[in-house]
Amino acid sequence: MKKIILFTFVLGFTACTVKLMPPTKADADFAAKKYSDCNLAQLQKGKESYEKYCNSCHGLKKPTSQTEEGWNKMVPMMSRKANKKAGSVIVDENTQNAILRYLVVMSRK
Ligand code: HEC
Repeated sequence: MKKIILFTFVLGFTACTVKLMPPTKADADFAAKKYSDCNLAQLQKGKESYEKYCNSCHGLKKPTSQTEEGWNKMVPMMSRKANKKAGSVIVDENTQNAILRYLVVMSRK
């Protein structure tokens, strides 16, 4: 019986928790080729902002759950939603860019 409870718990836990990888130097090198002004600090800011602003209505989606085109469409749309909900601009242009770049870079894995 204990085992079943534990199993259910572990299953439920892993199902709604997305483990986000921190960006590495290799990710930053990849990003810099794609976006000339992108660096590791921006990717780190993107990850933090994604965790901070994107899970108030639904859980965080895996970076690999969307293609690059998907993220290009979703991130601006969702940033607008987040700002509308907050009643002020919490996800500004720079933050939105950082989130998008983090997700696009991590979606290739
Ligand atoms: C104000 C609430 C709200 C916030 C904040 C929000 N979302 Fe969403 N999100 C939704 C709703 C509602 C849907 C589903 C309906 C839709 O697509 O509009 C959705 C759907 C999505 C989807 C599509 C999921 C799928 O399986 O098709 C992605 C990806 C996504 N959100 C990413 C984000 C990102 C990235 C952020 C942060 C910038 C964010 N969301 C913040 C409400 C929100």
